[in-house]
Amino acid sequence: MLVFKSVSALQNHINKLISERKIIGFVPTMGALHAGHLSLVEKSLLENDCTIVSVFVNPTQFNNSNDLNTYPSNIIRDKKLLQSLDNEIVLFHPNSKEIYSGELKSDHFDFDNLDQHMEGKYREGHFQGVATVVNKLLLIVKSDKIYFGEKDFQQLRIIENLVVAKKFNTKVIRCNTIRQDDGLALSSRNNKLDISSKKTAKYLFKALSFAKENFDTLDITNIEEKVNRLLAKFPQIKLDYFVIADERYLQPTLKRDKKKKYRAFIAADISGVRLIDNIKLY
Ligand code: PAJ
Repeated sequence: MLVFKSVSALQNHINKLISERKIIGFVPTMGALHAGHLSLVEKSLLENDCTIVSVFVNPTQFNNSNDLNTYPSNIIRDKKLLQSLDNEIVLFHPNSKEIYSGELKSDHFDFDNLDQHMEGKYREGHFQGVATVVNKLLLIVKSDKIYFGEKDFQQLRIIENLVVAKKFNTKVIRCNTIRQDDGLALSSRNNKLDISSKKTAKYLFKALSFAKENFDTLDITNIEEKVNRLLAKFPQIKLDYFVIADERYLQPTLKRDKKKKYRAFIAADISGVRLIDNIKLY
């Protein structure tokens, strides 16, 4: 497997691929790869001639230094996992200096209010950091397609907005959320949960499933009350938000409009580990 640490070496390789008219798929990640990430890589392998995966823990998107310092990383395992999928995958594993040559700070982007609620509200500067690194990566990789998980749906919408605003010639591919058998969405942060928190974490999915099952019959205020009551039974769960918002503008609502598509979004701290998830309600 080809592994690049420097931008210039990767760019040389990409220029060669472009001159050979190869279709390039790109999967940006922060590593500690799990089956969720790998599903994106597999989709890219199926849809492109060449797949580039980046593993880079982007410091500017962390609004909490403890979260950054304890973010799981295991590049040896990541390489093995990618190699087991396909030896032709190209891995880009830069250090911070390679990506942020000057100061380690975010650029500024306007997301047309997509960052107003949910993660944008609870994690100040988070999406500016995400967009900064994805913008930099896209300028380097120039892929035909870029793969994002619906697990981080607000991030996905923000990147779709960025790609249009910056006129990148890449197609954003939405990928389904991969879950454990009990419904818990796979996340690198799940590694930080102890055994008892792992059992409790599945109630986030139960709350989302309750919303999905009852969206046609109960009004949104009623769903929110019942979800709050269900989750209040677990002292380990500190709920940041449970909201229902439309998919396009990500504006939380209490009144549904039949013409719009909705999702339920949840974020909670479980014994010190912050998890997010969402589910489509159609
Ligand atoms: P990371 O959390 O490593 O996730 C990388 C990609 O994998 C994202 O598109 C995310 O939505 C997707 N993903 C994570 N868990 C998933 C699951 N259970 N099912 C399906 N897809 C899943 O998201 C980031 O990194 C960063 O913000 C990044 C975009 C790389 C910018 O630094």
